[in-house]
Amino acid sequence: MASSDASAQPGSPERNARRVAVTGSSGLIGAELCRQLTRDGHPVVRLVRSAARARPGDVVWDPEGGKVDAAGLEGVDAVVHLAGESVGARWTAERKARIVRSRVNGTRALAQALARLARKPEVLVTASAVGIYGDRGTERVDEDSQSGTGFLAEVAREWEAAARPAEAAGIRVANLRFGVVLSGEGGALRRMLPPFRLGVGGRLGSGRQWMSWVSLEDVVGAIRFAMDRDDARGPLNVVAPHPVTNAQFTAALGRALGRPTPFPVPAFALRLLFGQMADEALLGGQRAHPARLLALGYRFRHPELDGALAAALRPAPA
Ligand SMILES: NC(=O)c1ccc[n+]([C@@H]2O[C@H](COP(=O)([O-])OP(=O)(O)OC[C@H]3O[C@@H](n4cnc5c(N)ncnc54)[C@H](OP(=O)(O)O)[C@@H]3O)[C@@H](O)[C@H]2O)c1
Repeated sequence: MASSDASAQPGSPERNARRVAVTGSSGLIGAELCRQLTRDGHPVVRLVRSAARARPGDVVWDPEGGKVDAAGLEGVDAVVHLAGESVGARWTAERKARIVRSRVNGTRALAQALARLARKPEVLVTASAVGIYGDRGTERVDEDSQSGTGFLAEVAREWEAAARPAEAAGIRVANLRFGVVLSGEGGALRRMLPPFRLGVGGRLGSGRQWMSWVSLEDVVGAIRFAMDRDDARGPLNVVAPHPVTNAQFTAALGRALGRPTPFPVPAFALRLLFGQMADEALLGGQRAHPARLLALGYRFRHPELDGALAAALRPAPA
């Protein structure tokens, strides 16, 4: 893909249509990405997990089983890989196995299939997470920081490594390490909304844990930026430049909704409900900096939390 100049913003109408293959297209990020790509005239090839759900032009795959119908990917210009079992629920042994299998087997199978194509795509943009840094207290982490410890860090390390066959075949690979994606339509924010709307929301545990958030618009913007830019490769933190603590996030969400946030949720209650997931994803966190995206010239649409929350809570146009 021709390198665009640093002032070109993602989401603007493209000069040349590109065929883009997308996994996880039914998810929070995938659905919005596909909507924008289609709007801008780029044909989308969806990788779907069930033949029954497949529409003409879709490619059927089995990420957990590591199988991809590679022939259906011939001729795509870019691949965006977002699929993975949700991490936003209690991690039973079975769920943890699916979280790992869906990401590691799925990514490896996809990367190997792309590597074998007669005409390879130029770029594979693949999801990862700032969870790769582990729980780091107040330390500011960027892409040069070491990865951390814990289940999420281990999964993310293996997930990123699984894309190497594509890189070895000469395909540019960008590993986008997403923070908490803010959208009223899904993900963590939508799960938080009911208690906050009732005025019974509150910080989690001490509220001192850092939270690296990013608006859905900027996630899709960063994916399209990474597709477009020849110099976007390797890990990129996709987080807004102003992370907050959980207490600051709680106060901002209360302000955005015009509601008090009087009741902290005690750590023991979260541990009781969510087990290990509570410690890693709710009571722990990262203070991540988008050093590489900023260095490449990406301009955030929502650099500040108040603006991002206002956009996320705005009713979707009918
Ligand atoms: N949202 C966030 O805050 C956040 C933060 C950090 C990282 N991420 C990562 O970014 C990616 C996309 O996030 P998202 O919020 O769009 O996720 P999402 O809404 O949970 O969607 C993920 C998609 O993956 C597919 N999927 C579900 N279970 C699967 C399984 N067992 N095996 C393979 N595929 C499965 C589904 O798509 P199909 O049914 O179309 O296959 C699903 O719609 C995920 O990998 C997620 O871990 C997200």
